[in-house]
Amino acid sequence: MIDRHAHSDALVVDAIIRSRRAIRYFTDDAVPRRVVEDILDVARAAPSNSNTQPWRVYALTGERKAGLSEALRQAHEQNAHPPLRHLPDALPDDMRSRQEAFGASYYSALGVAKSDVRQRARVTARNYDFFGAPVGLIFAIDASLTKYSWLDYGIFIQTVMLAARAVGLATCAQVSFARFQNVIARHLDLPPDHEVVCGMSLGISDEASPVNRIDMAREPVRHFSTFLGFD
Ligand SMILES: Cc1cc2nc3c(=O)[nH]c(=O)nc-3n(C[C@H](O)[C@H](O)[C@H](O)COP(=O)(O)O)c2cc1C
Repeated sequence: MIDRHAHSDALVVDAIIRSRRAIRYFTDDAVPRRVVEDILDVARAAPSNSNTQPWRVYALTGERKAGLSEALRQAHEQNAHPPLRHLPDALPDDMRSRQEAFGASYYSALGVAKSDVRQRARVTARNYDFFGAPVGLIFAIDASLTKYSWLDYGIFIQTVMLAARAVGLATCAQVSFARFQNVIARHLDLPPDHEVVCGMSLGISDEASPVNRIDMAREPVRHFSTFLGFD
């Protein structure tokens, strides 16, 4: 008989998983290279299809991060790139309502009205400053790979976030960066045919920020699971 409560590791691992939040305001405290390397060293244990390990990570801080952020800020302002369609227009109803609930919580925590297009653009722009985090990560993948390798990448990215959480650091995964593939490729000198998967802010959470207290609800297990053949 498996008794979860007999496993003290489960308490720690579960607490790390359950307490992770997308954090969008950070303190100015620096995160040393060694800490970032240690987090990536844990994350490289993530599994992947046939152990292909499709991840390629760019970790930026200081001037290098500021330079990329500035280029992205300008690109965002010029609005020269088409908007990123990271979700289909015809989103299934249940997902659409969860997406809308997220938008409502987020903009209300920021005190921004949904109809205020200008303010919303300003809010979006904060993504490109890595939400003020001291470290920005850009994740790239060989564009010839298929959705199964992107699945590997998702596992890797969650592992990065949990490894960071375990040492008291906060993160926000950010698909927003994918909109500016060309800008990022130029700035980071990405290998040819490499595509930006997403970015990530990494640092210490600013606990005073109401935006960091958004607690997005999750569906109960019975809503997304079908159990077959159990007693
Ligand atoms: C792959 C991925 C991309 C995301 N992209 C963004 C983003 O571009 N900007 C942002 O503010 N949040 C982004 N998020 C954060 C989600 O909005 C957040 O994870 C979700 O609302 C659930 O909240 P929680 O992470 O606090 O539990 C992203 C999350 C994931 C997993």
